[in-house]
Amino acid sequence: MSEDWAARWREGRTGWHEQGGSALLRRYWPALPSGSSVLVPLCGKSVDLLWLARQGYDVTGIELSEIAVQALFAENSLGFETTIEGGLPCYRAGSLPLRVCCGDFFAWSSQRFDALYDRGALVAVDPRDRARYTDHVKSLLHPDAFRMIITLEYEQDKAPGPPWSVPADELLAYWQDLQRAFAHDDLANCPPKFRAAGLTEMLEVVWLSR
Ligand SMILES: C[S@@+](CC[C@H](N)C(=O)[O-])C[C@H]1O[C@@H](n2cnc3c(N)ncnc32)[C@H](O)[C@@H]1O
Repeated sequence: MSEDWAARWREGRTGWHEQGGSALLRRYWPALPSGSSVLVPLCGKSVDLLWLARQGYDVTGIELSEIAVQALFAENSLGFETTIEGGLPCYRAGSLPLRVCCGDFFAWSSQRFDALYDRGALVAVDPRDRARYTDHVKSLLHPDAFRMIITLEYEQDKAPGPPWSVPADELLAYWQDLQRAFAHDDLANCPPKFRAAGLTEMLEVVWLSR
């Protein structure tokens, strides 16, 4: 599976990337104490990392693809130095409280974080690995950490992911205290394979901790 992601980055098949970042992040992320540490698993080259760091948070992304990590720093003119942290090479920005560690999220360990931002991460994980992914995320968060998770919901039997559908009851089995804050039909922005398969709705859902 990691070769599949590596190939996507090599070949520029990164349709999930939002040039201007997520409008939902900007709308639903609350004001947390300045300096709060934020974990962003499977971060790609998301500019959401920069937005969070510019709000004054201490941001850590984890990304498998070195192409993605290098593109994030180059495209945003960010200088960096590299260190080894949690067993992975990490790129630390010179001018922002931001580091991105490059490698397998499942193999990465760290101190615990104050908050989680998950967009394009849980939905990217093979459904067979979802429980393992969630356990690993939980092991990296303080028990009272703020969490924002953006999922997709659609008829999975019509087309396979990624991105995968994460049914609400499954999400709530992992995270009992999350609340569904917002949902809208995002079919217009989903990969063409889903419309071609006959899907008529793809919900994008924002889950927030209380
Ligand atoms: C759908 S993309 C979403 C990226 C980003 N969250 C965004 O919203 O733009 C999923 C990303 O997860 C990365 N990825 C997949 N498996 C991973 C793993 N085990 N460890 C770290 N990154 C992984 C892929 O390389 C890819 O960049």
